[in-house]
Amino acid sequence: MLPVGEVEPSDLESLDLLIAGAPTQAASPSPPMKDFLENLPKSAVEGVDVAAFDTRMTTRWLKIIGYAAGKIGKQLKKKGGNLVMKAEPFYVTGGKGPLKEGEMERAAEWAKELVKGRE
Ligand SMILES: Cc1cc2nc3c(=O)[nH]c(=O)nc-3n(C[C@H](O)[C@H](O)[C@H](O)COP(=O)(O)O)c2cc1C
Repeated sequence: MLPVGEVEPSDLESLDLLIAGAPTQAASPSPPMKDFLENLPKSAVEGVDVAAFDTRMTTRWLKIIGYAAGKIGKQLKKKGGNLVMKAEPFYVTGGKGPLKEGEMERAAEWAKELVKGRE
């Protein structure tokens, strides 16, 4: 697991599964995730299983402008990745977090489902 701003090209060699997640900021992935996705070489994800998640607020009107996870998933797919799970949101309290109660456990379940059969 790496912070997205610290990923080196060598970290992307021979991937079995790439999980990318970021906070939603202004209806989009955070700037470091945007940079990562823009610069991600197709060769690193072509044919690789991929999954995306975000963190976001529960404020209803924000639904109108959208969120990060779907956009991350779409870009990974565009680069040739094989999206294996529906992009998943995890909800934070207020504008800054922390995660709402139960969300950490839900994230663990989501991740468990993803790695099932890969060990
Ligand atoms: C500049 C900025 C813009 C944000 N825009 C949105 C937004 O459009 N929709 C949303 O649901 N949350 C938005 N948020 C809330 C973040 O998603 C929330 O703070 C984040 O998920 C918390 O995770 P973190 O602690 O890893 O940053 C925004 C937060 C910041 C700081």
